[in-house]
Amino acid sequence: MRTPFIAGNWKMNMTCAQAAAFADEFLKIRAGRAPACRTAILAPYTTIGALTGPFGGTFVEIGAQNVHWEDHGAYTGEISLSMLVEIGIQDCIVGHSERRQYFGETDDAVNRKIKKLLRGSGITPILCVGENLEQREAGCQEEIVARELASDLSDLSEEEASKVVIAYEPIWAIGTGKSAGADAAEEMCSFIREKVSGMFGKAAAEKVIIQYGGSVNPSNAEEILGQPDVDGALVGGASLDAEKFSSILDFACGTC
Ligand code: PGA
Repeated sequence: MRTPFIAGNWKMNMTCAQAAAFADEFLKIRAGRAPACRTAILAPYTTIGALTGPFGGTFVEIGAQNVHWEDHGAYTGEISLSMLVEIGIQDCIVGHSERRQYFGETDDAVNRKIKKLLRGSGITPILCVGENLEQREAGCQEEIVARELASDLSDLSEEEASKVVIAYEPIWAIGTGKSAGADAAEEMCSFIREKVSGMFGKAAAEKVIIQYGGSVNPSNAEEILGQPDVDGALVGGASLDAEKFSSILDFACGTC
């Protein structure tokens, strides 16, 4: 049985004061509610200090949005694994489409980052894959995602692969308010599970957590999260609002 996993991707949003206010409001909303499923906030580095106090010892994991594959050195603007480990980071996004699109992140870089996280720490990599609108319109979403998976997960053992969280995020659904819909989300998440099975075996595919991401909100979360191969969500915009993020969590808990 896979534990549902809801992760909030704050992207480049939230000051420390806003992050502290979010934590306070979110924990108040969750107090006395059914134990939550696996939950994480993937925060900008500067806000992490404001979150470790309130979220420390609670069900909320704190994650980062990037990591470099080298231990240290002349990589201006980057962050190393030991820096993330030192402050207790539990999850880390790798290969988000915004990183690929605006910062030239390649599949080779994504693969190195995943291996770094898995072999150097207990931090869970959240690997994002997905096609753009043109590719979807041409009907080649499976080909694109299969190619990303083959490169991004290359050289991993079966055990390592089963620890990666894979987020299917169609680029055209990110931040557009236009989610892929439950059927398309299921179709692609099930395709991803099949691919993982082909690459690493059935046991790894049964274990691997697959999230859907792209305009998940309280009105579409129930249907999307109700799909058999959708084990959770990677939530952008709606994770900035404590009420909305909490409602999405409620739907995931219903599937525990
Ligand atoms: P969105 O972002 O929920 O705002 O569409 C999702 C993501 O980019 O992870």
